[in-house]
Amino acid sequence: MATTIAILSQKGGTGKTTLTRSLAEGLSRSGLKTLTIDADPQGNLSEYFGVPADAFPTLGEVLAGQETAMDAIHDDVIPANLGLAEAELMLAGKMGRELTLRHALREPKRHYDICLIDCPPTLGLLTVNALVASDWAILSSEAEHFSEQGAEQATEVIGLARENLNPDLDLLGVLLNIADMRTNHAKGTLETLRQEFGERVFETVIRRSIVYPESALAGISIFEYRRRKAIDYARLTVEILERLDLAPALAKARAMVREIES
Ligand SMILES: Nc1ncnc2c1ncn2[C@@H]1O[C@H](COP(=O)(O)OP(=O)(O)O)[C@@H](O)[C@H]1O
Ligand SMILES: [Mg+2]
Repeated sequence: MATTIAILSQKGGTGKTTLTRSLAEGLSRSGLKTLTIDADPQGNLSEYFGVPADAFPTLGEVLAGQETAMDAIHDDVIPANLGLAEAELMLAGKMGRELTLRHALREPKRHYDICLIDCPPTLGLLTVNALVASDWAILSSEAEHFSEQGAEQATEVIGLARENLNPDLDLLGVLLNIADMRTNHAKGTLETLRQEFGERVFETVIRRSIVYPESALAGISIFEYRRRKAIDYARLTVEILERLDLAPALAKARAMVREIES
């Protein structure tokens, strides 16, 4: 059964989609069969993967109960579009509305090692569905516009999901993202995160670089776009595999880091 990780943040523009895309690539390159799910109606992740805009079915149809998740997999991605916002509204009035994604992913999880879910920037029903379907959550915090209140809200939602719906859920880690570590602001944010989350904060910080928006525009991962710039995400992949204790993949990820550094 696939280990499932929800990627969330307290708001938009914190590098969540870039994190999901890049991590999917790092994990795949470490030999893990990785399914990525776009749970944001904006569909940025689907675009980043180069999924055609008219791909059908998508996560919206799956959550509406019209199609199976297996049928919605396009090259290891379950894409999303604005129809997902409509599906979320429909879902709100249904019994078991928080469990829909968990149930839908049962079959796909048998065919993959890892599932990553890119959550929308709000802590609503789609994010709750993602958390209930997951074993782990990763919190992405942007260095420049970090808000403690936002981070608290996000951890509160994780706590609520665990207490009420998914006792197996745990916080895998907190990432400082889009950071310029030469600024005092970024240093301060890292300090605040370490005070609040201790060891859960990843050692790896994802540095700010223009190559990320460029690679998103080109629709290819950072590993292909600028191999040497992928070092941060390669190191993050190592840290995540350490925390997940996935030894064979970890050895491959470490080799990947050495290869990029050489
Ligand atoms: N490390 C980074 N450095 C610079 N820009 C980044 C970085 N990561 C992401 N971005 C850019 O920041 C913007 C928001 O990132 P995105 O991943 O879409 O965030 P979210 O999914 O949280 O809204 C995008 O334009 C993206 O290309
Ligand atoms: Mg996004």
